[in-house]
Amino acid sequence: MTVNPKTQQLREIRAQSRLGGGQERIEAQHKRGRLTARERIDLLVDKGSFREVDAFVVHRTSDFGLDQQKFLGDSVVTGWGTIEGRLVYVFSQDFTVFGGSLGEVHAEKICKIMDMALKSGAPVIGLNDSGGARIQEGVVSLGAYADIFLRNTLASGVIPQISAIMGPCAGGAVYSPALTDFIFMVRNSSYMFVTGPEVVKTVTHENVSFEDLGGASVHSETSGVCHVATDTEADTLYMIRKLLSFIPQNNMEDPPLVSTSDDPLRMEETLDTIIPEDPSKPYEMKDVIRLIVDDGQYFEIHEYFAPNITVGFARLGGHSVGVIANQPNVLAGVLDIDSSDKAARFVRFCDAFNIPLVTFVDVPGFLPGTGQEHGGIIRHGAKLLYAYCEATVPKLTIVTRKAYGGAYDVMSSKHIRGDVNLAWPSAEIAVMGPDGAVNIIFRKELASAEDPLKRKSELVADYRAKFANPYVAASRGYIDDVVEPRETRPRLINALEMLSNKRDANPAKKHGCIPL
Ligand code: HXC
Repeated sequence: MTVNPKTQQLREIRAQSRLGGGQERIEAQHKRGRLTARERIDLLVDKGSFREVDAFVVHRTSDFGLDQQKFLGDSVVTGWGTIEGRLVYVFSQDFTVFGGSLGEVHAEKICKIMDMALKSGAPVIGLNDSGGARIQEGVVSLGAYADIFLRNTLASGVIPQISAIMGPCAGGAVYSPALTDFIFMVRNSSYMFVTGPEVVKTVTHENVSFEDLGGASVHSETSGVCHVATDTEADTLYMIRKLLSFIPQNNMEDPPLVSTSDDPLRMEETLDTIIPEDPSKPYEMKDVIRLIVDDGQYFEIHEYFAPNITVGFARLGGHSVGVIANQPNVLAGVLDIDSSDKAARFVRFCDAFNIPLVTFVDVPGFLPGTGQEHGGIIRHGAKLLYAYCEATVPKLTIVTRKAYGGAYDVMSSKHIRGDVNLAWPSAEIAVMGPDGAVNIIFRKELASAEDPLKRKSELVADYRAKFANPYVAASRGYIDDVVEPRETRPRLINALEMLSNKRDANPAKKHGCIPL
């Protein structure tokens, strides 16, 4: 069949655009063990759904011989597609064109789809692989970055924004991903830092590799910059698809309801014996979560950062929920600086996107010590308190064991607008644990006791009987009901459905002043 010459010309130009920086650079990208910008998009969105825009855009710079090097589409591929049939906007930086560096038109392309995403209320996913600001474009590329930062900020809390780091991401460029809701990284293949190893060496005389300075392990375990680290690019793209299944398209929608064959009335007898007899013994809180939620599916966020608290998405009776749970298996589940930051951020994301909060409480208190006090545990702990206080989504709380001191108040207590607060019979809700309490209130008596050890154990037993239980709080209505652990799933699903039309609002304001 003959093809119209103009159609033929279009096909040729499009084919040229699809080649990015050319076959040689594509091969070099593969040799680095990395996919190209377009291959990544193909793995991310539903097959055949991607519609590219601005494939014919070229840069307008002539300095440093750039007028002799023009690539159709410049160094980023942009457009929209679907994930499980739901609209998403995507930009994917093309390392084969000027190392994916960001100049004027690169940023214009990103801004265009961000504006469209904001107008049509759909998530933006950025696949980052870039040498940073395009050096030949000078200050124009700095301004171009700022255009993106502004849009990231204005879109925050309106549409979900997800970043995947698939290669280099350095200098000020890190701040666009940092302004988004979730950062994914690929181990041994991606890195993020404000200043690279060379500058570090000059300034602090430290010798450090790219991976040790800003690789996925560092950011997912130590700095908390990365929310999910995977071993391959394909895994990262798959995990992004999975994450989106829990999240609404924008802040005006509810999360999708996903049907399940898991019985909403399922009793889980294993839970009745999951708390050890000895209150000082740990147990795995993630087992508790998996036994309760639909099909045992728990999508954990920040799995390796501040593991003394666990946060993530799950479903109950098909409804998406954000789970926050103290983890007795790590540092006895104590709240510290990092765990407060981690949970506060997660609570605020869920609240912004209408995802109910389910909080499992087993917390001995805040971590003592100069490290924590000097590091600002007061300021950081306040963030979590603030986040829970301001949240207006349905808030369900289950105290499985300890809820001591200020941490009791913080962890979605009744007093800060917990909607349904349940406790297991093993709950201990008091100002502090029996040992510490007896040491303080009976100090004089213990000092003069004939047998201080014997007297102390009597006093501890007495305190435990009086306070280390859920019934004092329940007698005040701070706990709505004490439930058998096995009934937790049906009770939570019932509470979620009861709260499905919940309406609550905070006083009108420009914005609050969260203690950052
Ligand atoms: C223009 C760039 C570039 C850049 C890379 N290239 N970075 N072009 N501006 N920033 C080009 C290279 O010239 C090369 O072109 C191609 O991309 C691939 O780069 P290589 O160096 O060959 O690749 P590799 O060895 O894998 O190294 C990748 C790299 C390195 C580590 C990213 O290129 C690098 O260090 N680039 C500079 C990083 C940087 O300092 N950026 C500025 C950061 S400051 P050819 O034609 O040979 O294929 C910043 C400020 C942002 O970004 C502020 C925002 C507010």
